[in-house]
Amino acid sequence: MKLSREELKGLMKNKMMRAGLCEEHADTTAEILTWSHERGYASHGAVRVEYYSERIYKGGITTKPNFTWKETGPCSGIFDGDNGVGYVVAVEGMKKAIEMAKKNGVAVVGMSNMSHSGSIGYYAEMAAKEDLVAITFCQSDPMAVPFGGTEPYYGTNPISFAAPTADDRRVVFDMATTVQAWGKILDKKSKNESIPPSWAVDEKGQPVTDPNLVNALVPIAGAKGYGLMMMVDVFAGVLLGVPFGKHVSSMYHDLSKGRELGQMHIVIDPDRFIGIEEFKKRMSQVCDELGEIPAAEGYGKVYYPGERAILRREKAYAQGGIEVVDEIYEYLKSDDIHYDRYDHKNRFAE
Ligand code: NAI
Repeated sequence: MKLSREELKGLMKNKMMRAGLCEEHADTTAEILTWSHERGYASHGAVRVEYYSERIYKGGITTKPNFTWKETGPCSGIFDGDNGVGYVVAVEGMKKAIEMAKKNGVAVVGMSNMSHSGSIGYYAEMAAKEDLVAITFCQSDPMAVPFGGTEPYYGTNPISFAAPTADDRRVVFDMATTVQAWGKILDKKSKNESIPPSWAVDEKGQPVTDPNLVNALVPIAGAKGYGLMMMVDVFAGVLLGVPFGKHVSSMYHDLSKGRELGQMHIVIDPDRFIGIEEFKKRMSQVCDELGEIPAAEGYGKVYYPGERAILRREKAYAQGGIEVVDEIYEYLKSDDIHYDRYDHKNRFAE
């Protein structure tokens, strides 16, 4: 099913409002889910709405959160999200970070007690739109084996950075530190497709191709990805006073309780270094030079990070809209809030 941006966003927003979210929070969440879905990150788009709706309905996302902001220094602060919807907490945290970086050059803003915040590239891009450079990372529930281990300890702990250029391009790098995000496995499951053996392992730690048999994900690049996962958890968990490592709450256990997740935004004003205009000029040069490198056999072109996402978005609209799996579309337009599919299962969605 192909939908326009307005149709998809509207359906997702309405569903989350029916589940109990206020219009403002539902609008922000639906906007970011659409941002993700239209860029081809189907794993972090409409497929998530039923899960969020079930969690909202069952009380595991605070619908009237009491946000608190504590400025801990000229360049640092903690935004406590009171387990409100993660998308809104991450946006509010980034607004604080942007304000602080513009004033004092650098901002290190932690967000504590939040729910899942989806595709984190959105928040890094918010800073790039304001002529700032940003990195953001967040925790996710333990589902990846540490290098050489047999049990999950860290989550898919994503990292994103974004930077402006002198033209209308923006570099937005945005990745899970596992070979694949869990949402990609969810997406494959929803389409009844198999997964490559490099994505995940079964209960014996062996590679699997059936998404229904996945027991744990694996870090990117072995021990190196494992180190990056740890870095994310130190910045977004250990440092912020929220649960860390294997103590991070599961996405699919007890949907009536807040998740207490952490995220960190680090924002830098290029004016404190080379100057914003020169920085943007250089970034444009970087993107141009990368694009001019002859592609290796089997690759059409060398892309800068985020370029393919924009091309996917343009292609979707040129071809009549954003593709949404029929089953998800039926759910979105139905009167049902959720089908009780996620609560109290194993640590993965089923
Ligand atoms: P991915 O593997 O599709 O892309 C990762 C990065 O590599 C992107 O920045 C992309 O621009 C770049 N890239 C990919 N192919 C490229 C190519 N051929 N040339 C140049 N650059 C290329 O992303 P992944 O790891 O599957 O993550 C998907 C989404 O899931 C992200 O938005 C991420 O934030 C989100 N996520 C969120 C989590 C959460 O708990 N909130 C957990 C894990 C992932």
